[in-house]
Amino acid sequence: MDFSIKTLDGKTPVTAQKTGCLVVGVLDGKKLASGAQALAGNPAIVAALKSGDLSGKPGSTLLLRDVAGVTAQRVLLVGMGSDEAILEKSFSTAAASIIRTLATLGATDALLALPLQAIKDRDAAWAINVLVAAGRDSIYRPDALKSKKDPVPTGVSKIAFAADKAETPVFKLAIAQSVALANGVELTKELGNLAANVCTPTYLANTAKKLARDFKLGVEVLDRKQLEALKMGSFLSVTNGSDQPPKFIVIKHLGGKIKDAPVVLVGKGITFDSGGISLKPGSGMDEMKYDMCGAASVLGTFRAIAEMQLKLNVIGIIPTCENMPSGSATKPGDIVTSMAGLTIEVLNTDAEGRLVLCDALTYAERFNPAVVVDIATLTGACIVALGHHNSGLFTRSDAPHDKLANELLAAGKTSGDTAWRMPIEDAYQEQLKSNFADIANIGGQPAGSVTAACFLERFTKKYTWAHLDIAGTAWKSGAAKGATGRPVPLLTNFLIGRAKAA
Ligand code: BES
Ligand code: MN
Ligand code: ZN
Repeated sequence: MDFSIKTLDGKTPVTAQKTGCLVVGVLDGKKLASGAQALAGNPAIVAALKSGDLSGKPGSTLLLRDVAGVTAQRVLLVGMGSDEAILEKSFSTAAASIIRTLATLGATDALLALPLQAIKDRDAAWAINVLVAAGRDSIYRPDALKSKKDPVPTGVSKIAFAADKAETPVFKLAIAQSVALANGVELTKELGNLAANVCTPTYLANTAKKLARDFKLGVEVLDRKQLEALKMGSFLSVTNGSDQPPKFIVIKHLGGKIKDAPVVLVGKGITFDSGGISLKPGSGMDEMKYDMCGAASVLGTFRAIAEMQLKLNVIGIIPTCENMPSGSATKPGDIVTSMAGLTIEVLNTDAEGRLVLCDALTYAERFNPAVVVDIATLTGACIVALGHHNSGLFTRSDAPHDKLANELLAAGKTSGDTAWRMPIEDAYQEQLKSNFADIANIGGQPAGSVTAACFLERFTKKYTWAHLDIAGTAWKSGAAKGATGRPVPLLTNFLIGRAKAA
């Protein structure tokens, strides 16, 4: 799908534009929204708005053909709600409807003359991103491993945004950023959806290397020997039952000043989580191929910020392996020593995410990070707590952590990829007591997502840190089974905000 700008001036109003479909916004089902004033006196449009054929509802549509006085082959009227200041939700609904309708037309191109500047609390860049994201999502198919590809709609594939001269540079940048983000989201979906026998730790490492080649990023992949030398006993304990070699990926986008402390993103990369000896039940176990979605979101975010050439130093760390049962697998009750020196009693081998992350979080110390954010499909309990709408956001609650949490929450809101804050408190740490080691890897049933975060917290004392539990948001089950690409929009927006502040 191709997105571009059409710059209009007084001599070439929207009415004179050659296009398969001119899309304009309507308020209350009766009144043209801003961006489409040139159509105001057109008798056919006036009659259509008077007819009552278009409801006031956001996303309602009315398609007109061969409108006299308009060069476009079709005019698509789209309801934007009833308020002069269009609500964010109304615009998003209208955008989804526009993309859906354009896919059904005989036309191949469209020109959008929409009220991009009239959205309450949001700007045109936000609106453009909503449309680009919806457009790209509509043509994505998880068919990489099908011999016959799933059909995509044959309708409109070229979308132009009408802009005046002053708007043109702003809109251009917004399109470029939105396309870069969509490319990142798509990479994350693609990696998530790949079967676990294809998307192995080695495959993720090769993907990182290719990304680094394509975008001139730094990359380093550590293998088992190097991880042993680093004393990553906790991470390595998870790989014991697997025939696939573990990989530890470090990827670097150094777009900021040399002396600027980097933002470090750490992504859980369990390419298949069988549970290990604490084997998971069989039904739905295939979905544990998605247990590397934290890692995939880090790679997707790098894909996005690299294309944007973001002026910020960002380092990605991905501990990746399989969690499998075998004669050599870690057993419940085994005690392992983490890179930080803390001993861990592995009471449940299915609580493996925290075991790989803790060593990666210790490794992150060497970068003197500005902040560290880890992203993980960490707990089923997070789905119980928050469902599939919000990712769980966990931080300590002092001032620097409140600031980081608020940045992440705001980035989630802006990008429609929301998170909800959850607690980290000493009281929960009690649940991780072990009689035989410094800490146990599970804290029992109550507040399972919180005790998992509390486990990680022990390894993050040296910097400001946030944890995103994406167990409920990284993929969908059922008929629409597939990776969502979340939280790449949240992370990318967060980093854009950081780059602006730097
Ligand atoms: N990867 C899972 C968490 C998960 C489960 C994500 C289902 C999405 C859907 C994680 O490794 C895990 O198995 N966690 C256990 C922890 C428990 C043993 C303390 C869980 O959530 O059951
Ligand atoms: Mn598990
Ligand atoms: Zn897992």
